Amino acid sequence: MAVKVLSLLPPLLLAAAGLAGLLLLCVPTRDVREPPSLKYGIVLDAGSSHTSMFIYKWPADKENDTGIVGQHSSCDVRGGGISSYADNPPGAGQSLVECLEQALRDVPKERHVGTPLYLGATAGMRLLNLTSPEASADVLAAVTRTLMQYPFDFRGARILSGQDEGVFGWVTTNYLLENFIKYGWAGRWFRPRKGTLGAMDLGGASTQITFETASPAEDPANEVQLRLYGQLYRVYTHSFLCYGRDQVLQRLLASALQTHSFHPCWPRGYSTQVLLRDLYASPCTAAQRPQTFNGSHRVRLAGGSDPALCRGLVSGLFNFSSCRFSRCSFNGIFQPPVSGDFMAFSAFFYAVDFLRTVMGLPVASLQQLGAAVVTVCNQTWSELQALAPGEGSRLADYCAGAMFVQQLLTRGYGFDERAFGGVTFQKKAGDTAVGWALGYMLNLTNLIPADPPGLRKGTDFSSWVVLLLLFVALLLAALVLLLRKARSTKSPSAI
Ligand SMILES: *[C@@H]1O[C@H](CO)[C@@H](O)[C@H](O)[C@H]1NC(C)=O
Ligand SMILES: *[C@@H]1O[C@H](CO)[C@@H](O)[C@H](O)[C@H]1NC(C)=O
Ligand SMILES: *[C@@H]1O[C@H](CO)[C@@H](O)[C@H](O)[C@H]1NC(C)=O
Ligand SMILES: *[C@@H]1O[C@H](CO)[C@@H](O)[C@H](O)[C@H]1NC(C)=O
Ligand SMILES: *[C@@H]1O[C@H](CO)[C@@H](O)[C@H](O)[C@H]1NC(C)=O
Ligand SMILES: *[C@@H]1O[C@H](CO)[C@@H](O)[C@H](O)[C@H]1NC(C)=O
Repeated sequence: MAVKVLSLLPPLLLAAAGLAGLLLLCVPTRDVREPPSLKYGIVLDAGSSHTSMFIYKWPADKENDTGIVGQHSSCDVRGGGISSYADNPPGAGQSLVECLEQALRDVPKERHVGTPLYLGATAGMRLLNLTSPEASADVLAAVTRTLMQYPFDFRGARILSGQDEGVFGWVTTNYLLENFIKYGWAGRWFRPRKGTLGAMDLGGASTQITFETASPAEDPANEVQLRLYGQLYRVYTHSFLCYGRDQVLQRLLASALQTHSFHPCWPRGYSTQVLLRDLYASPCTAAQRPQTFNGSHRVRLAGGSDPALCRGLVSGLFNFSSCRFSRCSFNGIFQPPVSGDFMAFSAFFYAVDFLRTVMGLPVASLQQLGAAVVTVCNQTWSELQALAPGEGSRLADYCAGAMFVQQLLTRGYGFDERAFGGVTFQKKAGDTAVGWALGYMLNLTNLIPADPPGLRKGTDFSSWVVLLLLFVALLLAALVLLLRKARSTKSPSAI
């Protein structure tokens, strides 16, 4: 008996060694360490209609990985955008205080000092800088004074160009969807084959379209080349100032006053007073401004619920009469044919979401979108109020907003039924808001390296595989030996 047990010893030992090796290999040493510390970054997105604060976070030891930075929290600043404080610049700084106090609580105290803080202003401030450069400088100086009073690493308040705004929105979209590079299950970096997604942003004062294209850029102003993770991307981008939702609504209102005695995009049964000073203050309505008008006059305007006239009014926003390139979107701006899939966010999302969820209309095709727009524009004020109680006077503008989105996509950018099938309307990817803010921070903090991530993980992995196979072979050999031993000891007793 003792001899039998002894003869089993060598294969048993072999099996034990194999098992031990496998176990040692499979204990994930990296994960056993204490959890990695987090880093934070703060971006204030100073839009034309309001300011939002985003706090991002990422594990400090994975800084250069894609898809690692996510949204920690956010805060909506109360009141208007910073450009609305042109007459009271200190008010612009003061308006940010509530959200900054939240940031002090949201970011752990020991991280305050090293946390970068940026303020980026967009088309609202671009317009203010056009009408009054001094006022825009005063507003930026005022918000700078406020932001410097906080312990964060404040890195400046700037006005983004339309080009930057478009490109950073595109970077955000593709970063969040991990379209640049991906750390796969096999422990290797690889470039996903699906390509990048185009980005369409509709703000309050401007709209941006950005997509990767193989077509040559006929206007250098519309081409941006980016080197991300070792890959070169050629991206088409354009920002249309005065084509943001709020400015479009003002322009339509000004044209309605000019051409009709009512507003065809507003619902029948709705009427309101328009203060001429407010309507004509923006450079976007300059073309429709009468030679003389009394700014303190109020004009009463009623809605008409007239989809056809409303479409005509919105068509007037686009000028197709001249193009000095092989092809243009509108207003003489070069644009290659739209290619690939797109994500449409911010006010694009809100317009389509209203049609889908409040009106209960399908918008999966251009034909459905067109029909949905006619339906919403044909509602009376009481019908709309019954559908969406509590929306207030904004409800009157959903027809014009949806009509604009539909015309911009089809006639403006040239989406046909097939291309439209690749457009998704979304405001978040995971927990992170889609917009230019994240891309802006990633760029300014160098969180997207130009070179591909090192092969360290790749080589680590292959030696790991070799060892794993070795120990599995050892274990199998031991098992085979054991089995044979067991058979040979059994058979004599069976006879
Ligand atoms: C990230 O990349 C930069 C340069 O590409 C490098 O200096 C830095 O050490 C990297 N950080 C980490 C955590 O790998
Ligand atoms: C305002 O516009 C001028 C002219 O385009 C430009 O040089 C300046 O940098 C702008 N101001 C800011 C703060 O961006
Ligand atoms: C503008 O209208 C207001 C009343 O609405 C009037 O008191 C004022 O005198 C007018 N100003 C001019 C320059 O006509
Ligand atoms: C369209 O643009 C052309 C060239 O820029 C201009 O001459 C024309 O007046 C514009 N038409 C409208 C309706 O604005
Ligand atoms: C608008 O609605 C009315 C009924 O409320 C309907 O008779 C009419 O055909 C509709 N118009 C359009 C353009 O859909
Ligand atoms: C991102 O930052 C780099 C410098 O770090 C700069 O050269 C590049 O132009 C920036 N990208 C964009 C889109 O602005």
